[in-house]
Amino acid sequence: MSLLSVLLLSILTGSALCQYYDYGSYLEPSNLLGPSGPNCAQDCDCPMNFPSAMYCDNRRLKEMPSIPPGIKYLYLQNNQIEEIKAGAFANVTDLRWLVLDSNRITSSKVEKGAFDKLASLERLLFSYNELTEPVGPLAKSLTELKMIGNKLSKIPSVTMLGLANLTSIHLQENELTSESIAGAFEGLTSLHYLDISQNKLAKLPAGMPKSIQMLYADDNNIDSIPEDYLSKLPQLQYLRISHNELADAGVPAGVFNVSTLIELDLSYNKLGSIPEVHENLENLYLQVNEISKFDLGSFCKIIGPVNYSKLKHLRLDGNHLTRSSVPFDASNCLRQAAELTVESTD
Ligand SMILES: *[C@@H]1O[C@H](CO)[C@@H](O)[C@H](O)[C@H]1NC(C)=O
Ligand SMILES: *[C@@H]1O[C@H](CO)[C@@H](O)[C@H](O)[C@H]1NC(C)=O
Ligand SMILES: *[C@@H]1O[C@H](CO)[C@@H](O)[C@H](O)[C@H]1NC(C)=O
Ligand SMILES: *[C@@H]1O[C@H](CO)[C@@H](O)[C@H](O)[C@H]1NC(C)=O
Repeated sequence: MSLLSVLLLSILTGSALCQYYDYGSYLEPSNLLGPSGPNCAQDCDCPMNFPSAMYCDNRRLKEMPSIPPGIKYLYLQNNQIEEIKAGAFANVTDLRWLVLDSNRITSSKVEKGAFDKLASLERLLFSYNELTEPVGPLAKSLTELKMIGNKLSKIPSVTMLGLANLTSIHLQENELTSESIAGAFEGLTSLHYLDISQNKLAKLPAGMPKSIQMLYADDNNIDSIPEDYLSKLPQLQYLRISHNELADAGVPAGVFNVSTLIELDLSYNKLGSIPEVHENLENLYLQVNEISKFDLGSFCKIIGPVNYSKLKHLRLDGNHLTRSSVPFDASNCLRQAAELTVESTD
């Protein structure tokens, strides 16, 4: 029985990660939560059995509602709010979660100081608005920041300065360049997750904290990786740089040969050869590049009882390879491969 099975079509998903970052649970419909408390804003619901929450989502609100004291969880998503005045949160300086997704807020209509007094803010969800720069400075209590789908063109280095509890940042679908985020993430000593996909980066971000575990930079214009980039990130496990401009010249030998990496996505680039990876790597996505040679040395420098590649999924379809490009002794090296996709799927 061959441990190496050659499949022509495979659909691989990152479902485990999707679940890890599924926040659907706290965006519950307010009508499941019972009758409303007394001080609630007219257009909102403040459930008696969850008195610290105010639900104002999907109300066609054009303005911020008044917020009674005692609210810690505020849901304002899916409205038409354009402006946040300086005193908007004056009653609720201990607000924990603030959800402003899918409104029409522009940076020029966020009055200075509006966020200054939110000293206990943990989650700020501000996706799908029209921000050109982030709001802030933000509280040191912040753990999660989402500003997907805005028009952010820069992240000043003071915005997140010293936010030692911040663990995840989502900045996909903005207009960020490498220069405009330089230093933005420095000093975030708890940062595990950063997604900067679908921006205008020419390089991976400089000054990444050593705590980073997942770095997603798909769909940018990245054409090279500094030789020591990964060796400075001792906890990095998931790295995605698909749909970029990486060619062999921009990938120094051994740059991906780090023992912590579990998943590496380099699909939809311009690589001509398979980069060398560490034997601990489990998922390697290289589909749709310009690879014409299957070199086992990329996966195994030596092969022996304890020395073999831990790769489970290897995608090489959409390259210049056929089944016959796979060396006959590949199964000695790729002992754990459950999926190896070689041939083009078109
Ligand atoms: C503060 O709370 C009071 C009492 O509920 C309310 O009348 C007022 O509008 C609130 N202010 C703001 C800025 O939300
Ligand atoms: C950071 O998180 C820790 C642990 O949850 C907490 O005790 C601490 O108060 C937080 N820091 C801030 C500034 O909120
Ligand atoms: C990766 O680096 C190790 C040393 O950390 C080295 O022994 C090994 O040969 C390298 N593997 C590849 C495929 O270059
Ligand atoms: C061979 O495997 C052992 C045990 O996993 C490891 O310590 C060693 O670095 C490996 N050698 C190479 C050249 O990868």
